[in-house]
Amino acid sequence: MVVVFEATHEQLTAKYPAEVNERYPKGRKPWISSIEQYKTMYDQSINDPDTFWKERADELVEFFSPYHTVSSGTIDKGDIRWFDGGKINVSYNCVDRWAKKTPDAVAIIFEADEPGQAKYITYKELLDMVSKAAGTLRSFGLKKGDTVAIYMPMVPEAAVSMLACSRLGLVHNVVFAGFSANSLAERVNDSKATVVITADQGLRGGKVIQTKAIVDEALKSCPGVKNVLVFKRTGAQVNFQEGRDVWWDDALNQQTEFVEPVHVESEDPLFILYTSGSTGKPKGLVHTTAGYLLGAAMTSRYTFDLAQGDVFCCSADVGWITGHTYGVYGPLSLGVTTVIFESLPSYPDASRFWQTVDTHKITQFYTAPTAIRALRRLGDQFVTSNDLSTLRVIGSVGEPINPEAWCWYRTVVGKDSVSVVDTYWQTENGSHLLTPMPFATTTKPGSATFPMFGIVPAILDANSGEELTSTTAKGVLCIKRPWPSIARTILGDHQRYLATYMHAYKGYYFTGDGVLRDEEGYYWIGGRVDDVINVSGHRMSTAEIESAIIENEAVAESAVVGVSDDITGQTICAFVLLQSGLKESDEIKKSIIATVRAEIGPIATPKYLIILDDLPKTRSGKIIRRVLRKVAAGEEDQLGDLSTMSDPSILAGIVSKVHSAF
Ligand code: WT7
Repeated sequence: MVVVFEATHEQLTAKYPAEVNERYPKGRKPWISSIEQYKTMYDQSINDPDTFWKERADELVEFFSPYHTVSSGTIDKGDIRWFDGGKINVSYNCVDRWAKKTPDAVAIIFEADEPGQAKYITYKELLDMVSKAAGTLRSFGLKKGDTVAIYMPMVPEAAVSMLACSRLGLVHNVVFAGFSANSLAERVNDSKATVVITADQGLRGGKVIQTKAIVDEALKSCPGVKNVLVFKRTGAQVNFQEGRDVWWDDALNQQTEFVEPVHVESEDPLFILYTSGSTGKPKGLVHTTAGYLLGAAMTSRYTFDLAQGDVFCCSADVGWITGHTYGVYGPLSLGVTTVIFESLPSYPDASRFWQTVDTHKITQFYTAPTAIRALRRLGDQFVTSNDLSTLRVIGSVGEPINPEAWCWYRTVVGKDSVSVVDTYWQTENGSHLLTPMPFATTTKPGSATFPMFGIVPAILDANSGEELTSTTAKGVLCIKRPWPSIARTILGDHQRYLATYMHAYKGYYFTGDGVLRDEEGYYWIGGRVDDVINVSGHRMSTAEIESAIIENEAVAESAVVGVSDDITGQTICAFVLLQSGLKESDEIKKSIIATVRAEIGPIATPKYLIILDDLPKTRSGKIIRRVLRKVAAGEEDQLGDLSTMSDPSILAGIVSKVHSAF
């Protein structure tokens, strides 16, 4: 699991005390400036959590009326509550507070798809936009607790939409705009959304995406949707359904009255976000208001050493949890500037990220290992042609980062003068679980180091479920007690929430990831131990892709496995049995790929599609995916126990098919 990698001692124990870091702004001190300070705070967060969280809440968020109980409930019961009795509003915390204190500070920098077309939105302007968008939503008859689906490109109006929902106590359900019409419809219906916010088209890497057309297609099977609010991104001619569709600009311009933030309960839902689990149907995780907001604010402050005046860029799409917490809510709750990046790291060429850093004087930059690996491969010249000396902290998220990529990130992008934070967490967690503290933690490339405040990790033996308490341990990663931003339930299926996360190992929150703790207590995440695969940081379940493939009428059966890939971490390898009588052909393969793209979206496209005559099965007819995984990994000499396999003679045929496909 821990990759043996040759690096200098300095790289392996990369430490950057702020006092000797010439990039660190004079007159400012890091929030956490020594490992001792981290330890003191961490110990307090564990030994006296109520005081710790009360202090953090006092510093970071504003309640309209005070809470009476800091926290209650347990992992085992799945009845977790934070800041009960309090009244609060997220948009007030992220916008109004700063519009009063620093109205002319920039809240959002929009780095549009084409370079040189950036737009700047101050906090005062943001408040005006959010109030008008909220007024528009209210004019649709929406009221507290109703759900709004957001299917938007990476434009500031996506963040404005989220904030407008939170202003009225509406629950947003952001659906990544790369998902197909089918996936969108499924998520709209499951969340019972009655309004969809979208755009005419999207732009990415010079390509036009027919966003509104996808929504129109989806809504054919969403009878519950009454209104569609359409932001004009390109101004192209698109279908417009009178009575249902409303143009964003027209509607917002009609709003003359300031919309006050609604006082919601701490535990009222803020948003639903769908993610894949190991079984077929995506899960709508429900995040609530006060705990989530505090988790976002606190981790943004400490992990990135963020403070007002900083310019933060998180390259993740708002359709993912990273975009929610670190693209929108975290930075705005701290009054800093957030950069919304519409383009691709490779557009128009591989210097785009670094040009963006240079242009906007970005101080903290956060992206995924897959982008780092891809850019590293294209050569250092794209980085070095830009002035990146404003950067102080650069982060990685979404999948394990290999030490080579980590060192390149720090040395070539960071000129050995920045802190690299490898942050581990999940959609379910709301905010960071494991991360170094920049300027305090001695990092090791490839390790997410130590727990965030309030997080008590435990390593369990996967089979016995016993906690491994020795320092050095390897097993599955669990968390022992609730933290403020943990998801409270799966929409409409609390039993599944309990079964998946809380009762897999009774009394522990189960992450689904393998982990190793080394002799110095550092955590090294090894990847998923379930049927979830991670392609470029996008999480998908093999079962979900299999059920999409089966939708193609040529297919009799399918089995999907993840294969490791140098750039994307993992790629999708699909094994397919055709209906009897059908012969393998390019047309059939193309049509299967088209089915997957239509059912889920382009992100689920299998890189390898291998048509087999037989699938390896047990005598009772269960597909033995382990065999396929091993063969696809080129480890056919390590298949293990095949005694339950009904017909081992088919193996040779599978191996030769795989060899010719790869
Ligand atoms: C899964 C969660 C919220 C982060 C974005 C993805 C993997 C995430 C790391 C990391 C190793 C990581 C895990 C996790 N993962 N960050 N720093 N090192 N693995 O969120 O879609 O909910 O996926 O991403 O496997 O379980 P997600």
